[in-house]
Amino acid sequence: MSNFRTVTVKGRQFRVRAGDVLLDGALANGVEIPFDCRAGTCGTCMVHVAKGQTVCGETHTQGMIYACQARVVSDLDVEVEDVPEIDISKARLVGLREVAPDIMELMIAPEKSISYLPGQYFKFTFAGYPARAYSPTASFDGRIGGRVIHLNIKKVRGGRVTTALGSGIRPGHRLRIQGPYGHAFLRPGGAGRLILAGSGTGFAPIWAIAAMALRENRNRPMVIIAGAKKLPQLYMTPILAQLARLPNVTIIPTVEEGPINHPSIRTGRIEPQMPTLTASDVVYACGSPRMVTALAGMVEKAGATFYADPFDSAPPEAPSGLIGRIKTLVARRPAEAEPSRDSGKGREPSVDPFERALSLVPKDPIDDDLGLRRPEPRRSTAAERDHALSLVRERALADPAQLQERPRRAAGQTASGLV
Ligand SMILES: Cc1cc2nc3c(=O)[nH]c(=O)nc-3n(C[C@H](O)[C@H](O)[C@H](O)COP(=O)(O)OP(=O)(O)OC[C@H]3O[C@@H](n4cnc5c(N)ncnc54)[C@H](O)[C@@H]3O)c2cc1C
Ligand code: FES
Repeated sequence: MSNFRTVTVKGRQFRVRAGDVLLDGALANGVEIPFDCRAGTCGTCMVHVAKGQTVCGETHTQGMIYACQARVVSDLDVEVEDVPEIDISKARLVGLREVAPDIMELMIAPEKSISYLPGQYFKFTFAGYPARAYSPTASFDGRIGGRVIHLNIKKVRGGRVTTALGSGIRPGHRLRIQGPYGHAFLRPGGAGRLILAGSGTGFAPIWAIAAMALRENRNRPMVIIAGAKKLPQLYMTPILAQLARLPNVTIIPTVEEGPINHPSIRTGRIEPQMPTLTASDVVYACGSPRMVTALAGMVEKAGATFYADPFDSAPPEAPSGLIGRIKTLVARRPAEAEPSRDSGKGREPSVDPFERALSLVPKDPIDDDLGLRRPEPRRSTAAERDHALSLVRERALADPAQLQERPRRAAGQTASGLV
């Protein structure tokens, strides 16, 4: 048998050596699969194997693999979801306020329109600080999109970036945004019950997903579990109060350190508050990696669909890839005219305080110190390929059924997970 295998990604065919890493093989052949960490943690490179066999890079969802970890064993047919293209924009911090002890809301104005899907994340590089990943959220009144990106950021003790919020990093600070990345985004058109779990500022992407899902279908059944360590850190209470009015939405706020003398707030972690899951549920879990891992196990048992965004504290790696085209969610809408940078004479006062703040920020050029560099695809060594193939042989001996072709998943049932 030849040492080479034929891989088809989005209808494009290329040949790789048996045992090569799928992502490396694709990039070496000019075929784009989006990626970020290349370590099997961020989920950006998740793809669906429609036909064929790989080893390594398995996820919690059948048929889905991390292309950055999976090694090609047989001929493959791979499906990649359409996501917005990864791009870079200069931006400014235009608003910063504490919404709860150690929890900040940031308003960021990119210089150009950027596209993302609710639940995705970007890398934010504040001038003078290292890049960090953050997930855009909807505003407290449920607006998503528009020209200002909202973030909820927890101040981490000893953290390089978050401890500088309000001191070294203040309104007017220049930054660079790169993305979007991640796989835990809202798939349009879904009808199954949504279970949305966010611990701490993991509520940020959860609120973005909930706001967009309700905009799409106001009657979609939804359970939202919002966790915090202490009661004052339950910063999303005003949002939960609005959501609680909807008959199809169940709200479960929970605080780890009790006791809490409040009839609507539970005590304990998120995991025990989860409803009984069924196979038709779609579960999103964002925030604490420990909570995400626990929920992954529960979801797998129930056979439900899982999308996860664990807030790993590891700094993001080098920039990457490109893909697809999905409509702009953070776009300059025609109605939102460019704010005047001069005296503001003749201009109606803006109703949005952050829009007003934006108009006061001077428009200096941002240093272009971090150009977009694409890492070179890495070639697998012969030893790595041999190791991958010996894994296949071992698995085949232990369980011959494993080498059967993977079943094709129904459309819209793709899912994300973690290692
Ligand atoms: C996909 C993704 C999305 C995210 N979205 C959000 C979000 O929306 N909101 C949010 O608040 N956070 C989010 N995060 C987390 C965020 O990216 C940062 O990790 C977090 O803000 C801490 O950054 P920092 O620079 O302040 O801390 P860091 O300097 O990175 O330090 C983080 C922690 O590690 C410790 N540490 C640092 N260096 C060492 C070392 N050498 N040895 C031992 N310990 C060390 C620090 O003391 C600190 O406790 C997300 C993370 C990911 C991966
Ligand atoms: S690039 Fe593969 S999981 Fe992050």
